Amino acid sequence: MPAITCIEDLRRLYERRVPRMFYDYAETGSWTEQTFRENTTDFQKIYLRQRVAVDMAGRSTATQMVGQDVSMPVALAPVGLTGMQCADGEIKAARAAEKFGVPFTLSTLSICSIEDVAENTSKPFWFQVYTLRDEDFMKRLFERAKAAKCSALVITVDLQMMGQRHKDIKNGLSAPPKLTLKSVANMATKVQWGLGMLGTKRREFRNVVGHASGVSDASSLTKWTAEAFDPSLDWEKIREFRKMWDGPVIIKGIIDPRDAKEAVNVGADAIVVSNHGGRQLDGALSSIRALPEIMDAVGDKIEVHLDSGIRTGQDILKAVSMGAKGVMIGRSFVYGLGAMGEEGVTKALEILHKELDTSMALCGRRDVKTLDRDILMIPEGFSGRWES
Ligand SMILES: Cc1cc2nc3c(=O)[nH]c(=O)nc-3n(C[C@H](O)[C@H](O)[C@H](O)COP(=O)(O)O)c2cc1C
Repeated sequence: MPAITCIEDLRRLYERRVPRMFYDYAETGSWTEQTFRENTTDFQKIYLRQRVAVDMAGRSTATQMVGQDVSMPVALAPVGLTGMQCADGEIKAARAAEKFGVPFTLSTLSICSIEDVAENTSKPFWFQVYTLRDEDFMKRLFERAKAAKCSALVITVDLQMMGQRHKDIKNGLSAPPKLTLKSVANMATKVQWGLGMLGTKRREFRNVVGHASGVSDASSLTKWTAEAFDPSLDWEKIREFRKMWDGPVIIKGIIDPRDAKEAVNVGADAIVVSNHGGRQLDGALSSIRALPEIMDAVGDKIEVHLDSGIRTGQDILKAVSMGAKGVMIGRSFVYGLGAMGEEGVTKALEILHKELDTSMALCGRRDVKTLDRDILMIPEGFSGRWES
């Protein structure tokens, strides 16, 4: 196997090793994919200021996110169906994250359940909730996350309705996958993936099946999720959720400074500037372009994180230097997981760490906690001068 030196290498391997339906599920954005593309290309519009002859010994990427120590300012983002990218995927990703010293976030729509991950890891992880209509189910979800000692609650607020991803419809995405001529022919070529799946009992949405009423199989689950998201979600309801959780609450899916201020008002501990990896509102600003205005609006009142488009350590460096306390990575860890399981997630974290550490040093900085906009060259108008 050729040497793996960057996240793109992991993506290529992932594309070869995982059934098309699940590769497409991750590697796509909504509608025209404008926002999905710009999430990565907008990072390249920002330049780093190279400095020389600065003592670079004794560097540190360690910092804190919501008061918790992290070995670098990175958390694994909640990603639904992670256990379909690789057998027991959530457990493997959580293990890699805990060994590396960064938080793992479990999605409500995961394959491995809260209990599965808790039983197979030794450090607390973060739990992400979607705001669903079924109040009973929500209450029990909170109780289960508390019982598992989850150390932060991530409330995702940008998915009251689903953005359309054309490929998922064309592929007939489901978990477990439906057996059609096309899907079977494709899966037959993914031997490692198939053996892993045969060897695990975790092949359905285990946070939901058996816990939410009226959901006993995967086909009714698809219907359930379509009906379950709460379209009437408002800030009052988010305030109520905030009260139901004693520990840190992170509100994920903020792109507008006005919403960032609302998140401050409901008492959140942190926000994630995010457009869901370009999977929701196509045509929304990339997260990195939205960040400066949000920092100006709330940067001194709340901890700000960012996700969407992080593929390199330089991206992390740029986001943190703009004021984010940390970033979340979605696809970057999914590529590693699909390519090489737990080892692949570790590889992705190692790559990002090395790139962050080296690039920080080449900017003449030794400590991630001291990064600021001085090391950046941001083009005029980057964060927008809009007519309305
Ligand atoms: C395949 C996939 C599934 C996702 N599922 C969820 C989810 O269940 N809950 C959630 O809050 N965000 C979900 N997201 C969004 C991620 O948490 C994160 O915001 C996004 O992946 C960041 O962009 P990046 O992939 O470019 O790093 C998902 C993203 C992907 C790619």
